[in-house]
Amino acid sequence: MGTESHIHWLLYLLELLSALFVFILGTAALAVAVLAVVDLTQRRDAVRRNYPVLGRLRGVLEHLGRFFRHYVSALDREELPFNRAERRWVHRAAAGERPVAAFGSTRDLRPAGTVYFVNAPFPAPEAEPPEPSPVTVGPHCARPYRTAGVFHASGMSYGALSRPAVLALSHGARMAGCWLNTGEGGLAPAHLDGGCDLVFQIGTAKYGVRDAEGRLDPQALRRLAAHAPVRMVEIKLAQGAKPGRGGILPAAKVTPEIAAIRGIPPWRDAVSPARHPEIAGPADLLDMVARVRDLTGLPTGFKTVLGGDRWLDALCEEILRRGAAHAPDFITVDGAEGGSGAAPASLMDAVGLPIREALPLAVDTLIAAGLRGRVRVIASGRLVTPVGVAWALCAGADFVCSARGFMFALGCIQAMRCDRNTCPTGVTTHDPRRQRGLDPRDKALRVRDYVRAVEREVRLIAHACGAREPRALERRHVRVSLGDGRSVSFEQLFPYPGAGPPATAAGG
Ligand SMILES: Cc1cc2nc3c(=O)[nH]c(=O)nc-3n(C[C@H](O)[C@H](O)[C@H](O)COP(=O)(O)O)c2cc1C
Repeated sequence: MGTESHIHWLLYLLELLSALFVFILGTAALAVAVLAVVDLTQRRDAVRRNYPVLGRLRGVLEHLGRFFRHYVSALDREELPFNRAERRWVHRAAAGERPVAAFGSTRDLRPAGTVYFVNAPFPAPEAEPPEPSPVTVGPHCARPYRTAGVFHASGMSYGALSRPAVLALSHGARMAGCWLNTGEGGLAPAHLDGGCDLVFQIGTAKYGVRDAEGRLDPQALRRLAAHAPVRMVEIKLAQGAKPGRGGILPAAKVTPEIAAIRGIPPWRDAVSPARHPEIAGPADLLDMVARVRDLTGLPTGFKTVLGGDRWLDALCEEILRRGAAHAPDFITVDGAEGGSGAAPASLMDAVGLPIREALPLAVDTLIAAGLRGRVRVIASGRLVTPVGVAWALCAGADFVCSARGFMFALGCIQAMRCDRNTCPTGVTTHDPRRQRGLDPRDKALRVRDYVRAVEREVRLIAHACGAREPRALERRHVRVSLGDGRSVSFEQLFPYPGAGPPATAAGG
């Protein structure tokens, strides 16, 4: 090919490129003009009406800002609901890495409210800290439940979570020896797949055990309880993220399979009532507990978030009037900082007591009534690392449950899209393309390793404090920073009613 022909092709290419450039520029100008007209003529957004097109950048930057803060600018210990250090701890524990750190802690012990544990001067010489002792829940039931594990999976409904996520939880929980709470969406085959212990939750809509009017169907409950892995039943009054509101599953997540398990129509918002129609007070609650326990033969308790009034006192009075055998076998206290698949923001932000206050309050009410040995206490609310779990044991819990800790173990990256069916990690979406990333076999191992790591480090903390075992931790083992260089014992903040820490679960 001659030089002339080369020049010819070069000119041709330049012409093509400049035509393409003019085309792109023209299209962009047209798009800007259209957007400008749209912005100028709309009336809802003042910024866009006053600053057409440019006003849109605000929204884009606000949206992107969240991602930049999440990955780039936020410090390790400053994000909510979970900071990077907490998420990283769970991810590393779930990956089976030994969660050891080097050089020094980045946890600032100075801010008011920070908790730290009180080590014993001469801890026991054994290299392996002692295992927790087994606890019996529901000693008066036909089928009491006995378990030693401290840390368990909190209720997350089938529907809020994807099928692969529930499969991984079921298998992982079996390997770790912890229980899995079904949440309020009914019992799915995926819950049973791994063969772990299950806590069946009855939400206010009674999904899975409801009759045509939405009331408790005794036959359905009996059939469900006959599944051997179902070991306890939890009546849900409320959860920390939305006191006063029932569960919400947006229409996009109500697939025909999920609808069939719940007994509702598909592709419509599934909104549970604010309360069980049968339960309007403490006496009704005890009636319901008795009914469920009689029908199932299983330990039965309830889950709630505590508020301002002293209705737990009234409940204890009613229990004492009927006799301790009529008590709920457990109470799950969920802190206001608890999570949800979908909840109104104001309820999430500002209603209910945080677990720091609610847990000692519930425990002390039981102690004062002489019922602490009878009623087991389960705590939840942002207790995803060993520090939170050990604190809850000190405050008086027998067991600690977590939802979002287990989600992190499944690969959750805190994208905060649980309500949109677009979860990028497959944990809370029913979109098969997005579920592809969540391999239930691999994630089951991560769940197992996460639970093991939490249990191991809680034992380490108990050992360092000189406690005989994790459930022998007491309030005197924790101090709370006052923010001015001093701290106060947790026992001083929440003194035990009566003579001192009660004989609780250990060995019971
Ligand atoms: C995705 C998701 C779904 C949940 N579904 C339920 C539910 O069905 N029933 C319930 O009682 N709580 C539900 N919860 C609340 C948790 O069980 C738990 O009480 C709360 O999140 C506190 O634990 P965490 O801080 O470890 O997440 C859900 C939470 C999440 C994040």
